[in-house]
Amino acid sequence: MAATDKRYYVTTPIYYVNDVPHIGHMYTTLACDVLARFKRLDGYDVRFLTGTDEHGQKVEKAADAAGVAPQAFTDQVSENFRDLARIMDFTNDDFIRTTEDRHVHSCQALWKRLVERGEIYLGSYAGWYAVRDEAFYTENELTEGPDGGKLAPSGAPVEWVEESSYFFRLSSWQDRLLAFYEANPDFILPKTRRNEVVSFVSGGLQDLSVSRTTFKWGIPVPDDDAHIMYVWLDALTNYITAVGYPETDSNLFSTYWPADLHMVGKDILRFHAVYWPVFLMAAGIDPPKRVFAHGWWTVEGQKMSKSLGNAIDPLHLVETYGLDQVRYAMLREVPFGNDGDFSHAAVVHRINGDLANDFGNLAQRVLSMVSKNCGATVPTPGPYTDDDTALLAACHGLIADVRTAIDVQAFHDALEAIWVVVRAANAYVDRQAPWVLRKTDPERMATVLYVLCEAIRHLAILAQPFAPGAGARLLDQLAVDDARRTFAHLGSDHALGAGTALPKPAGVFPRIVKDEGEGKGAAGQGDG
Ligand code: MSP
Repeated sequence: MAATDKRYYVTTPIYYVNDVPHIGHMYTTLACDVLARFKRLDGYDVRFLTGTDEHGQKVEKAADAAGVAPQAFTDQVSENFRDLARIMDFTNDDFIRTTEDRHVHSCQALWKRLVERGEIYLGSYAGWYAVRDEAFYTENELTEGPDGGKLAPSGAPVEWVEESSYFFRLSSWQDRLLAFYEANPDFILPKTRRNEVVSFVSGGLQDLSVSRTTFKWGIPVPDDDAHIMYVWLDALTNYITAVGYPETDSNLFSTYWPADLHMVGKDILRFHAVYWPVFLMAAGIDPPKRVFAHGWWTVEGQKMSKSLGNAIDPLHLVETYGLDQVRYAMLREVPFGNDGDFSHAAVVHRINGDLANDFGNLAQRVLSMVSKNCGATVPTPGPYTDDDTALLAACHGLIADVRTAIDVQAFHDALEAIWVVVRAANAYVDRQAPWVLRKTDPERMATVLYVLCEAIRHLAILAQPFAPGAGARLLDQLAVDDARRTFAHLGSDHALGAGTALPKPAGVFPRIVKDEGEGKGAAGQGDG
């Protein structure tokens, strides 16, 4: 594959700034960060974008409630999402804010293009609108709430809106959109979500109101000051703004567009999988290659929300359990795409089981034996037995399985594949009993420990996207050069050099002593 083909553009949704970040927001960006890190290690030229969605009625109302001007409000609260990126060690290459000039310019250019192509016309809108979702609904989608008011399918209250509005000719795109889905079977993942979208579109599309006149906090419609753009048209455009739109000849745009993946929560799939590809096709721009809709986290069965006061703060989690541990547990516990109910007990269980007992213990017992019995250098292997070759083959074959899982965003499968080898390595230690060989056959002990160091090297390299800190510390302990930690360095060609001096080993995955995560009592790791 030519170097230029190996490029990967991944985006998070841009976050509304009316809320402080909780684990739901963290989850979407974490998934993208793992993909970005994975692809970089796999030799791709990666662009990873996140940012904040700062216009719209919802943000205007939140600013009002806080008693500040919307711009001052968004300047302040968008910082919370930058802080989240720092806390989580996210490796985004850019952070876009929809109030930036580059974005206003890009949205207005897209709008003009849609007008030129006859896709937008002036009309008037009379119908239901939910500010919380920033979405329009038809009468038959609504239900009656407990107080007699009407509710959107998401549970958000709706209000009747009547105003002059520009419309986008969405209705004329039904057949072309269905043909696009047909030609691109993996455009929407998971498959069940794809089926929902296809059936929604098959039911017919109505023209979409794409401007508002009754509030001001938005991007002005070109040549008509009375209107601001519908916040979703504004927000979705961020994905092309950030690669330089409207400069479609620019290096940035031609390298990274179309995006490889828009990661979104299931609640905003329709905007990304229906409206967005149509806006782009209507403007003569290629649609993205994939939209993945992940599930939602609840807490004790309840929706997380500011009003319920049950939102889980990512910073608190990281302080309690450690960053690598949180990153691992979030992606391991629930099959990606499904909903999950957050539980501290489940996080502690994963940390103590998978990380401390399985991986941590493997590394700790092998590295401390090497340190004590091999002069703190990489041991020198002799001839391999079938058991040795089988473990090494499992390590060498791992990248293919992990890559397959990652390419369909199955993080839980990727981690399970890695942990199959972690467990196989632990079983190999037990079978080979190097502590016995130390007395009976030191040369054989050296071979066994060498095979295990190689296993740990492979596992640490592959763990890096998920647990970057621990992965790096394990590779440090094996004295693996910084430049030799990518997936190109997996396999026997880049195996550890016998005799290399090793630093003193230290545990990387401490056990959580107190259950329920109320304070981390790190007890270190047993050495089995
Ligand atoms: N601003 C829009 C997105 C515009 S993208 C062009 C928006 N913002 S949001 O802040 O409300 O949500 C951002 C992301 O966080 C969505 O993917 C949403 O699914 C995700 N989550 C918010 N709460 C969540 C959970 N409780 N669980 C999992 N993800 C959740 O929508």
